[in-house]
Amino acid sequence: MDIALSIKYQYYMKTNLRTFIKHTAKDFHNQSVNPPVVRASTIIFKNLQEIEKTQKKYLKNPRSGNFDYGRQGTSTTHALQRILQEMEECYKVYLTPTGFGAVFLAVLSLVEPGDEILVTDSVYSPTRLLTQDYLKKFNIKSIFYDPTKFNDLKNKVTKKTKLIFVENPGSNTFEFQDLKKIVSFAKKNKIYTAIDNTWGTPYLIKPIKLGFDMSIVSATKYYSGHSDVMGGSLAINKRVFKLVEPTNRVTGLRLSPDDAYFILRGIRTLDVRMDKHHINALKVAKFLSKQKKVVRVCYPYKKNSPNYKLWKKYYSGASGLMGLRIKSKNKNSVKSFINSLNLFGYGYSWGGFESLALYQNQKQLGARSYTNLKKDEHIIRLHIGLEDPNDIINDLKQALKKIK
Ligand SMILES: Cc1ncc(COP(=O)(O)O)c(C=O)c1O
Repeated sequence: MDIALSIKYQYYMKTNLRTFIKHTAKDFHNQSVNPPVVRASTIIFKNLQEIEKTQKKYLKNPRSGNFDYGRQGTSTTHALQRILQEMEECYKVYLTPTGFGAVFLAVLSLVEPGDEILVTDSVYSPTRLLTQDYLKKFNIKSIFYDPTKFNDLKNKVTKKTKLIFVENPGSNTFEFQDLKKIVSFAKKNKIYTAIDNTWGTPYLIKPIKLGFDMSIVSATKYYSGHSDVMGGSLAINKRVFKLVEPTNRVTGLRLSPDDAYFILRGIRTLDVRMDKHHINALKVAKFLSKQKKVVRVCYPYKKNSPNYKLWKKYYSGASGLMGLRIKSKNKNSVKSFINSLNLFGYGYSWGGFESLALYQNQKQLGARSYTNLKKDEHIIRLHIGLEDPNDIINDLKQALKKIK
């Protein structure tokens, strides 16, 4: 039985998101709370007519699963896709094997040779590599705008601008932008809009409802929440469906049913984890803001600051990722601060249950034009996990003593 057609599913759809993600994707047929992991390359049918029926059904309703070949997914990937479509309140969600795959699919679906893309200057660095460098060989130019100045974005639009790619907040420096302003300006100028919403997820903000054409989330982070799987999602509105669908067909980007299962399992508790990440991160941000060597905590905690106001305007909460600007002439002592942390892991990615710390080297930030990092300033990215916040603060307190 198609779970989506069950009377109970219709009921779950009317509940609050917190309830919906707990109850959806039950498998009544197999009497299981969770859907089975269906692994398949070949999808088999009763007869040839059934193949045609399935294909026609998909053409009529592209939001339904297209189970005619494993690359299109199986009932497991579709269960995740359906949850995300409800969460995003969008026309369709595409699942990709990594978050960056979703960035790639979004950008490549929209641009053509001769086009220009406007990109947030503090964008995730691989997105910068894709737009600034890789797309050059297709004669596609990227121009980077200052995320703190809407006028800078406005002034950089030309007749060739096809897409505005927003990352909100920006990586490492976490600037918040006035999203409605960007969307309405883009609409007036017939420019497509995409946003990387990995920091917030649709639990905290729904970009498609705000008017964005596309919204990307790295499922590797908060959806999965347990640092053991990679995946991505691209949510779109109906306007860009005709562009994304054929691109998706030729990229071969596909999330495996096993990974879809793990992401689906993680998503059941997304709300509980996000709420706790916010509580913990807020406590830590307030503590850090009082430390002598800390120039700025890049996190929405300080009422009346421009970033806080913009965050408050659009988000119903905050996640656990923040930036820390430290002032010190002694770079090694800043590194030894990080090395002295006991509860923080040192490594890439974030969004899992655990705390992480990274020193952002100048090379990574070097391509930027608007971060304005002074010579004796350093940026540290902290992911505040679900540990006891007092333990996190105590750990930071002892390690901060290393900074000279
Ligand atoms: C803001 C942002 N977007 C996209 C990605 C890419 O996601 P993934 O690592 O799943 O490819 C990352 C990864 O760190 C990220 O931080």
